[in-house]
Amino acid sequence: MKTYELIKKKRDGIELSRDEIGYMINGFVKGDIPDYQMAAFLMTIYFRGMSPRECVELTMAMVDSGVKVDLSGIRGFKVDKHSTGGVGDTTTLVLAPLVAASGGIVAKMTGRELGHTGGTVDKLLSIPDMNVDMPKEKFVEIVNHVHVGLIAQTASLAHADKHLYALRNVTATVDSIPLIASSIMSKKLAGGSDGIVLDIKTGVGAFTQQYEDALKLARTMVDIGEGVGKKVVGLITGMEQPLGKAIGNAIEVQEAIDTLSGKGPADLVDLVAELGANMLLISGVVASRDEGINLVKHNIQTRRGLEKLGELIEAQGGNREVIENPGLLPQPRVKIEVEAACSGYVEKINALDVGLASKILGAGGKTKDEPIDLSIGIYLNKKVGDPVRKGEPVAVLYSDGDKNKINPARERLLNAYIIGPARLDPPRLFYARVSKEGVEELQ
Ligand code: URA
Ligand code: CA
Repeated sequence: MKTYELIKKKRDGIELSRDEIGYMINGFVKGDIPDYQMAAFLMTIYFRGMSPRECVELTMAMVDSGVKVDLSGIRGFKVDKHSTGGVGDTTTLVLAPLVAASGGIVAKMTGRELGHTGGTVDKLLSIPDMNVDMPKEKFVEIVNHVHVGLIAQTASLAHADKHLYALRNVTATVDSIPLIASSIMSKKLAGGSDGIVLDIKTGVGAFTQQYEDALKLARTMVDIGEGVGKKVVGLITGMEQPLGKAIGNAIEVQEAIDTLSGKGPADLVDLVAELGANMLLISGVVASRDEGINLVKHNIQTRRGLEKLGELIEAQGGNREVIENPGLLPQPRVKIEVEAACSGYVEKINALDVGLASKILGAGGKTKDEPIDLSIGIYLNKKVGDPVRKGEPVAVLYSDGDKNKINPARERLLNAYIIGPARLDPPRLFYARVSKEGVEELQ
């Protein structure tokens, strides 16, 4: 097979076979296919798209390029969740223990991301002594006992993805639906769970800002997963304002504990209930979404989810006292209030600007290797629809005290808040549920 011929074939819109796609991915990973040819190939995919079958073949070639996690030592149906990202997304820390407390099994690999804030791994590491790297046998044992485990994703999961993503990033081929879908699904499928619930964000803070793109991405990912025998549901959810009130690492652990104690922000609680219900539904634990939503909310009220978080922390070597005493989490050197410049109602909070403000403050780290100050973050006192008076704090910066970061972060944050005369309803949180049965609109 000649690389040139395959680039030309795809360029001309002819569907590629499994062997042809495998040849391109393997050749690239081995170094036999140079970057310039792979870059051209990615661009043909960008313009030509991929058939559902090609998407499956591409995803599986990526899965086969790396380590595949074998979770067969864990009894029962393992369910995973993935979010396409967003700002201040605390869901995993709340959702994983709640699903386990409700009868599901969650054995989740989670990322250490270079985003606006740390990934779930960074949040977990703000819990004193928490261990997120362990031998597989230990992980399997924990999940068999506690029904939930959260560990760091190894870099060798879907090995090809890392190299492909780096190339996409410099060749304007990131925002291609088949490439995004295969990138995400290859890592999820290599993670070994039996079912996956995808939270696909739409709105200003999201990867796919337009609803139509989010829907296409959801359909493509559901088709890929179902095509290889997994149960997959995609939920399209809104990211018009940051989720919950906390953005950062330790501060989001605190928010997760508050939420599991029944004191969570409404949007976070509703999102967790919807995601959890779908995880329980595909796991066969409940017979309907409504039953799942009720069960998840019940386990918030009874604090069973909080208890489960405590068990999880203890099983992974952490200090479970944090769930009763969140003061044990890293605390910021200073807290600085950001005051409203005028009175009115919050009409908008630009999630992207809030994410950037937290990044400026230092919640995300500048490079991959720079350690993150886990105590840094932002707390939003006010969300869309809330009344504010001039001079009242709309948000609080959790800072290391560095004025060179505080001043620009404050400015960004004030820009993110649009305060006006109109009292608006909170932005829409749920758009649609995509499964192999089709698309169902959500309220
Ligand atoms: N997230 C991923 O993991 N891959 C993409 O291509 C885009 C978002
Ligand atoms: Ca949050």
